[in-house]
Formats: sequence, C-alpha cells, structure tokens
Amino acid sequence: MTALSDPAAVDIRFRGRRLRRTAALRELVRETRLHPSMLVAPLFVRPGRGIREPIGAMPGQDQLSVDELGPQAEWLLDAGVRSVLLFGIPESKDAVGSGAWADDGITQEAIRELRRTVGDDLAIIADVCLCEYTSHGHCGVLRDASVDNDATVPLLARVAISLAEAGADVVAPSAMMDGQVAAIRRALSGTAILAYAAKHASAFYGPFREAAKSAPAFGDRRGYQMDSANGREAMAEIRADLDEGADMILIKPALPALDLVAAARAAINVPLAAYQVSGEYAAICAAAEHGWLDRRAAALESLTAIARAGAGMIVTYFALEAAAWLREMDR
Ligand code: PBG
Repeated sequence: MTALSDPAAVDIRFRGRRLRRTAALRELVRETRLHPSMLVAPLFVRPGRGIREPIGAMPGQDQLSVDELGPQAEWLLDAGVRSVLLFGIPESKDAVGSGAWADDGITQEAIRELRRTVGDDLAIIADVCLCEYTSHGHCGVLRDASVDNDATVPLLARVAISLAEAGADVVAPSAMMDGQVAAIRRALSGTAILAYAAKHASAFYGPFREAAKSAPAFGDRRGYQMDSANGREAMAEIRADLDEGADMILIKPALPALDLVAAARAAINVPLAAYQVSGEYAAICAAAEHGWLDRRAAALESLTAIARAGAGMIVTYFALEAAAWLREMDR
C-alpha cells in the first residue's frame, strides 16, 4: 500500500470538520452574528389614509399612508428593529422637486407621525434626494437635459434642513451630487449624516423605482451615479464624503459591491452601512416563489455575507422578517 491510499498514514493537522460536527460547536465558533438592531427597514410613504398598497416587484412590501406608520413601527420594534429609512411618494411632482422640502411634505409628515407614535425608540433616517419629487424623475434639477450639480446641491441642503426640522435623527443624501454632504453639513450641525458615498448606477434599483415612482423619464443616472466597474473611485467618494463631514458611510448595492464593503471597513473608522437594494430583494423573492431558492436561507445567507464583509448596519427589505427569524433562532 502506498502512503497516499493508506488511511492510517493520513496525517491532516487542519481538520475543519472537527468544529462542524454539531450545531452547538458550529455556533460556538461562528464569526458573524446578525442582530435585529443592525437592520434598517426602508419604508415608502404615500398620501391617503388607511392605505397599504402592495408593491408588485417587491412581494411583502407596501406603500403606506402616514397613519399606517405607527402600527408598522410597533411591529418593527417588537421584532427588535430600531431604525427606518424613509422614502416619500408625493401627491404631485414638479420640475425642481419642491415637494421634497415642503414643510407639510409627505416625508416630513411621516417623520412627525413616527415621532408622535414611538418617540425616540426608533431611529428615523430620511433619504435626501429629489428623484421621487421631480416630474422628470432625475435626482436633481435639469439644465440642457442633464442634471445641474451646483444648482441641485442647495436644494438638497434645503431638503435636509426640512427633514431635520421635522425630527429626523439622520439624513441620508443619495443623489450623488458632488458637494452635497458639505452643503448639508454646513446647514445642519446637530443632525447625523449617513452619506451614500459609493452608489453605483445599478440595474438592481429597478423595483425601487416602481415602488417610489421615481424612474427617470428619459436617459439614465450614469451621469451622476458611479460606474459599477470602479472600486478605487468608490474609495475616493468615501474619503470625500468623510472630509465633507459625513458621520456614517453607506455602500449600495450590497452583494454586487461586497468588495467595497470590505475595503471601506478596513480603511475608515466611522459606522459603515450597506444597502441590500430592491433588486437584490426581488431576485430572492422571485426565485423563492418558484421554489428555486429557500427564501429564509437565501436571505439570511446574503445578510450574513454583508455583515461578514464589514457592514455594521444593513438596510434591507427583509428587516422585519429577518428580525423575526433571528428571534426564533435565539429561542
Ligand atoms: C434615490 C434612491 C434610489 C434608491 C435609494 N435611493 C433609487 C435610484 O437611485 O434610482 C434605490 C434603492 C433600492 O433599489 O432599493 N436616489
């Protein structure tokens, strides 16, 4: 018998299987643990009363009228989720997106309602962008059919001020305009800024645009969102946002940009978030509906991967569901 085929001759120092034998051992050596408190639930708020309008491409997600937010917040809190990211869908839109900074705007009303119903129990993060509020669906104001960066930045600051005045804990500029964080920082000293620093022009935002009614009427967002091929540029965006005064950094999408999550975690010291976007959610939902994927296992594996890469906060449409799964696994 040769040494190779003789079992007695097998001398393997590293045997990973020793620690995989039982569930107790696997849990003991688990490196990454998800917790409900690291999940951020995105909520879409719409006009009306008593409305929970299902979003077609995002099974399980609804557009909620303001009065539905209290109960939704209670469910989230019961499950252990302690933060939400708000997106408003206004009654009407115009060329400059003025609904975004209206004192009685939909997101402003949503913030007040959440504060009234759950106080400080929930961290309220408000998205700062114009795309849901502009008639053309772009993230800023237009000049000659392209988005005018420097004319948009003061408007974004105005939106952020208005959201902060309504009571948002955190404002999250997502328009990818250069200088937007600096302008918001100058305008607001006491409100935290979660900067969507590295936001790729991604195919995975499709379902969101249906949910938020924010698809661009012409062209695309490649003139302001990043080329998804670029990682070094993403790091430059992150550094710029930190220099401009961001308190936290967000990377988006999550799984398609997992390398950036890991690189950012190694390079910066502030809290880091990743956004598992609508298309990532929809892909898992659709495959699960066909019986091709196990919804729960695929969702938890993806969320764990995002955490393993270094995200301490994960914005995810699975937030409520995943928090319930995690609680169940704890018992
Ligand atoms: C607003 C914004 C978008 C998303 C978050 N904020 C849409 C976009 O950039 O087109 C996408 C989130 C998702 O897909 O879940 N600019």
